[in-house]
Amino acid sequence: MPVRPVQSTPSLLQVDSILSHLTGIDALGEVCRFIRHEFHHYRWVGIYLVDGETLRLAAWAGPQATEHLTIPVGQGICGRAARENRTVIVDDVRSAPEYLACFLETRSEIVVPIRAAGAVVGEIDIDGNEVKAYDASDDRFLRAVADRVAALAVQVQPEIVAGRPPHRGGG
Ligand code: SME
Repeated sequence: MPVRPVQSTPSLLQVDSILSHLTGIDALGEVCRFIRHEFHHYRWVGIYLVDGETLRLAAWAGPQATEHLTIPVGQGICGRAARENRTVIVDDVRSAPEYLACFLETRSEIVVPIRAAGAVVGEIDIDGNEVKAYDASDDRFLRAVADRVAALAVQVQPEIVAGRPPHRGGG
């Protein structure tokens, strides 16, 4: 059984520590690396930022890069979470017609909006290799992470819009 991020205060304190020690896109990459390392069911972790009708990958951690550096808000599980301004959990990507495939091993996905003043400014996208890898405890934990990175997401968004490549926070 995966270690669930239930009431995972130590992990959130560590996220706070990362955000107090690092700045800019490096900090987003380190948050991706840290939460992936902390929870075995987080196999690929990315942060996309909203640029009008497009989601742009700002930072990620995982074994491989994704080809989806940009995703139209009209497409994918990522697009749905942004459009609907809510967490989307897909138990089995093979039964989600809108799923944009990245990795052969992926079986489930969770996408949690990053909000500033109620508006979606980005999202945390996590892929897992097991069916039903994610539940409400992941949603709660990732919403707390999203709240913590929201100000930074707004701050670095112009760099990503200007074409800066995504930061890899480690495999
Ligand atoms: N699967 C996502 C695309 C991004 S990759 O998971 C990194 C989607 O359907 O939107």
